Amino acid sequence: MSDWIEVCKLDEIPKGAGRTVRTADAVIALFRLSDDSVRAVENRCPHKGGPLAEGIVSGRDVLCPLHNQRIHLDTGEVAPPDSGCVRVFETRIEDDRVLLRVGA
Ligand code: FES
Repeated sequence: MSDWIEVCKLDEIPKGAGRTVRTADAVIALFRLSDDSVRAVENRCPHKGGPLAEGIVSGRDVLCPLHNQRIHLDTGEVAPPDSGCVRVFETRIEDDRVLLRVGA
């Protein structure tokens, strides 16, 4: 069972940057890419828990602010030579509203 919840307006996410929203079971980092699409991952780097929403967006990746590991925002996978994976959430945009899929 899953639901779509509205988490913010698109223009509340700075382009090329992140912001956080809290859901019932996680803190989520939202990123607005240069094409105005939005990606969402758990705001916890798989390396040592760095706050990914404070990282720098590079293309479709985010660079963790703590030790610069590169995490792909479509898959949540850490780029080699590092390894690991962060939980990814589906998003969609309706008008100017950003919706996030939560639950199983
Ligand atoms: S905590 Fe993210 S790279 Fe170390």
